[in-house]
Amino acid sequence: ASDARARARQARTLDELERILADFDACPLRFTAKNLVFADGNPEARVMFLGEAPGADEDRIGKPFMGRSGQLLDKMMKAIGLDRSSAYIGNIVPWRPPGNRNPTPQEVAVCRPFVERQIELVDPDIIVCLGAPATQTLTGTKDGILRTRGRLFPYKLPSREAKVLATLHPAFLLRQPVQKRLAWRDFRALRALLDGKA
Ligand code: URA
Repeated sequence: ASDARARARQARTLDELERILADFDACPLRFTAKNLVFADGNPEARVMFLGEAPGADEDRIGKPFMGRSGQLLDKMMKAIGLDRSSAYIGNIVPWRPPGNRNPTPQEVAVCRPFVERQIELVDPDIIVCLGAPATQTLTGTKDGILRTRGRLFPYKLPSREAKVLATLHPAFLLRQPVQKRLAWRDFRALRALLDGKA
C-alpha cells in the first residue's frame, strides 16, 4: 500500500493518475477484470459521487454506473438538476470483482491511495458516498449506511475542507424501493448544499 501511495502521489493530473493506475498490478482484481473503470463525468464539477466497485456493464464499457444502478443514479441526479456534465463519478475500487462479489477490505485498502489522489485532483466541494463501503473508506466510520445516511462528515483536502454526504447506494434502492424516500431526503440536502442554503 505504501507503494500505491507513492505512485498515486506522482500523478499531477487525472489523466496521469489513470495511466499510473492502468500500470498498477498490486490489486489482484485487475487480472480478472476486462477494463479499468476510472471515472465518468466532469472533473471540474463541485460534486463527486463515489460508488463501490464496477459491475458487469461497467467492466464491459469501462465507465462507472452504466447499468441499472447507473440509470437510477442518473434519474436521482436529474431530479436535483445534475447530470454527468455537472458531476464527477468514480468508485472506491476501479476494477470489477469477479462475479460481482464485494471487494475485500484488502482490495479496498490497496486501491485507496488512488481514490484519495483522485479526490484531491478533482477537488470537489461535496463528495457523495453511495453506500457503506465508500462512506466507511472516506470517513473511517464503522457504522452501517442506515445510520450514516444523511450525515455530513468533514473531508480534508490539501488546501481546505470538503464535505462527505453519505447516502444509500442505488443498487440497494433497486432492491428496497421503499427506501427511496430516505435517499430523496439526502438528495434534497445535497441540492441545498450546492445552492449554499445548508
Ligand atoms: N455499482 C457501483 O458501486 N459502481 C458502479 O460503477 C456500478 C454499480
